[in-house]
Amino acid sequence: MKITWHGHSNFEIEDSLDTIVDPFFTGNPTAEISWETVSPDVLVVTHGHADHLGDAISIAKATECEMICVNELAKYAQSNGADAMGANIGGTIELGMTRYSLVPAVHSNGIDDAGFGWDAGSPAGVVIGDSSVVYHAGDTALFNDMSLIRELYKPKVALLPIGGRFTMDPEAALMAVKLIKPEIVIPMHYNTFDVIKADPYKFQKMVEENTDTEAIILQPGDNIDV
Ligand code: NI
Ligand code: MN
Repeated sequence: MKITWHGHSNFEIEDSLDTIVDPFFTGNPTAEISWETVSPDVLVVTHGHADHLGDAISIAKATECEMICVNELAKYAQSNGADAMGANIGGTIELGMTRYSLVPAVHSNGIDDAGFGWDAGSPAGVVIGDSSVVYHAGDTALFNDMSLIRELYKPKVALLPIGGRFTMDPEAALMAVKLIKPEIVIPMHYNTFDVIKADPYKFQKMVEENTDTEAIILQPGDNIDV
């Protein structure tokens, strides 16, 4: 499994399928490529905020890829021409060898593109299981049931937001690492904009001093094999 960061919460996970989670390219000052250059098999969108839904509908229409997200957001995407498959929290969609499980995220889920007040159901995280298992937490606060995600899916890699204000900050994300116990944690959702400034090196130091997890800081375009 190869994991590439495109900045913010936008990760490409290449295994038996090529999956992009939260394909925020346009308007993402840290994305190293544009949406027109990607051709995934599957998009997963954790929630409707513009920095996560991103270019999903454009990509889905241009490439005819599948899109996986919570039911209400799927209906919105379908009404805009995307081939979206709805699921709900706790459920799994299997495509070939790959399993996509939606898990809780403590956040909100308005669809920015559709104007204020258009609510898209529950926000989500996603666990993607193929040759390895990766947990993308979406935007979330710390919650104790991350320990259940640990028990049920045993993720090798956790992708956790650390930017604060809208999500966990580095201190809360450290507690999340203690609950999830992944082999590897990669911080995300920081320093994209001034309001989510955080020091990933401080987070890395705290994780490595307090847990058995390795914290890996990627630059946009970097990838790791797990
Ligand atoms: Ni959000
Ligand atoms: Mn966000």
